[in-house]
Amino acid sequence: MKKTKILFVCLGNICRSPLAHAIFEDLVEKNGFSDEFEIESCGTGSWHVGELPDSRMIAEAKKHGIKMEHLRGRTLQAMDFEYYDLILPMDVSNRGVLLTKSLDEYKDKIKLFRSFDPEANDDMAEVPDPYYGGADGFSNVFDIVERTCENLLEELRK
Ligand code: 4NP
Repeated sequence: MKKTKILFVCLGNICRSPLAHAIFEDLVEKNGFSDEFEIESCGTGSWHVGELPDSRMIAEAKKHGIKMEHLRGRTLQAMDFEYYDLILPMDVSNRGVLLTKSLDEYKDKIKLFRSFDPEANDDMAEVPDPYYGGADGFSNVFDIVERTCENLLEELRK
């Protein structure tokens, strides 16, 4: 069976998109769908290439039983637009970067991650960048990303 290839995208690939990567991977594994999906994440920036996720994001995920230590920072590659089926930016700014860099034929693959959030109340809902804030930011990001990943899996399995 052809796998659905999903790329989660944020700015640094150390907070939001690796969390979505880890949570979606965990959900897919727990539900026995590992052979149906290929999951990856990246940043539009390249400052953190090769690095572990942010220690504050790892700690928040760990509270919920989600492991992130196997992930390493990766930056967007030109060939990602052709390779992935669904490209899900965490915010409007990163969606703008993706749309600028993508050929027209791949632009339909790019959708705001929170367009799959059942609790989002507008079309432009974003996952807020927690990098410069306090611990509350990381727990808020966890809640948003968890429920959005759950609904994303349900939508893709329909
Ligand atoms: P992320 O958060 O995009 O969720 O990974 C950030 C991480 C690092 C930076 C910005 C945002 N930075 O400027 O280094």
